[in-house]
Amino acid sequence: MANYDVIIIGSGPGGYVCAIRCAQLGLKTAVVEGRDTLGGTCLNIGCIPSKALLHASHMLHEAEHNFAAMGLKGKSPSVDWKQMLTYKQNTIDTNTKGIEFLFKKNKIDWLKGWGSIPAAGQVKVGDEVHTAKNIIIATGSEPSSLPGVEVDEKIVVTSTGALELGKVPKKLVVIGAGVIGLELGSVYSRLGAEVTVIEYLTAITPGMDAEVQKTFQRTLKKQGLKFIMGAAVQKTEASKTKAKVTYKLLKDDSEHVIDADTVLLATGRKPFTDGLGLDALGINMTKQGQIDVDAHWQTNVSGIYAIGDAIRGPMLAHKAEDEGMAAAEQVAGRQGHVNYNVIPGVIYTWPEVANVGETEQTLKDQGRAYKVGKFPFMGNGRAKANFMSDGFVKIIADKETDRILGAHIIGPAAGELIHEICMAMEFGASAEDVALTCHAHPTYSEAVREAALACGDGAIHA
Ligand code: NAI
Repeated sequence: MANYDVIIIGSGPGGYVCAIRCAQLGLKTAVVEGRDTLGGTCLNIGCIPSKALLHASHMLHEAEHNFAAMGLKGKSPSVDWKQMLTYKQNTIDTNTKGIEFLFKKNKIDWLKGWGSIPAAGQVKVGDEVHTAKNIIIATGSEPSSLPGVEVDEKIVVTSTGALELGKVPKKLVVIGAGVIGLELGSVYSRLGAEVTVIEYLTAITPGMDAEVQKTFQRTLKKQGLKFIMGAAVQKTEASKTKAKVTYKLLKDDSEHVIDADTVLLATGRKPFTDGLGLDALGINMTKQGQIDVDAHWQTNVSGIYAIGDAIRGPMLAHKAEDEGMAAAEQVAGRQGHVNYNVIPGVIYTWPEVANVGETEQTLKDQGRAYKVGKFPFMGNGRAKANFMSDGFVKIIADKETDRILGAHIIGPAAGELIHEICMAMEFGASAEDVALTCHAHPTYSEAVREAALACGDGAIHA
């Protein structure tokens, strides 16, 4: 048993970042983690491994589709799946070991095992009960289930199983055209699988800018992904090697069956709070099953905080990190702050898709007057040279004040470009501020400036 200023339960991006900040602020800190490695879902079975597979499969796509036109001749590389999984595992290992190193450097104790909270100020790990002035729950999320779909993580998989399939399937059926379905669907499509995405709604990636949704779906179709829209999956039936997916088309209630070697269930995630003892503690939960917290990430039980996927808001690693830092500031007696209006979202397909702030729809719903500046990557020299001219940058600004309210990008390096707009929004910049900032030529970033110019007197290259 040991006494701490702070014990954090969970070592994902929310928990480990929170721990490092707590230690930097002089607090005696421990993190409880039951996995064999630190880093949570993101580093072990989420963001990081999926990015390794997206990168490798993108390289293959480039070799197959663009090399010859650039004067690079010869046989296209073939897929050595075992080696690709090794590359993915090495990527995970270097990242998780990096967190272990940072824990040692910052003198953070790793309490190995699954934690529970028997009472305020106490955390139980195995047979030991440790005490802490503050407890921060950062236990993340797990895949939601779907009635009629039994996951075995071999034939019918969630993102966890999809990251370590025995082989590349011939036919992959993806349930849900959200972030996970489209990222992992892209991976397997590029590696040669026939990918069919079944989506309940009539547009992919719910909540995203409508023009981006259309361009994105068109581009993915061009890449070979098939879509069945407006369809509710009823059930899956799996044997040892194959599965059948039954779905109903909403327009006429007709029932259909599609065969698959692998089925990926990607219909959302839910907070993971099992075994913590929240009920017995009397911690308030929201109707959606999230831990209810106040503006300072504190639950209704004094000294117990919660951050990340376990609470409200988008389930994003960087949102959890920001909350982790802010909650650390709070328990250290400072003021922590997260600007929830400026949290970017990125889909790491190719082209990438990125967004921040308001969409036209959310502004219409609020009855606010806005203007739009749009610029296609077709007018960007760098994008054209690199065969990456699909997509556009769209900036939405207040009609009266010109203040930037949001941005939506589909195109090369969208996930990097979005941060120029995030920074502009943090500083309350106008579209004109971005338009008057010198941008190096030739860069993809010029497309952002051109979209900002389009909010005013007009883009130059459009
Ligand atoms: P999601 O919420 O993004 O998408 C789920 C999709 O499934 C929706 O389009 C929904 O309409 C559809 N759906 C639901 N029930 C259905 C049914 N019965 N039949 C057909 N379609 C159905 O969920 P996803 O992709 O599982 O991601 C979970 C979370 O993980 C999200 O919050 C996401 O933000 C996060 N994530 C973020 C990543 C990133 O930032 N790049 C990468 C991976 C995950």
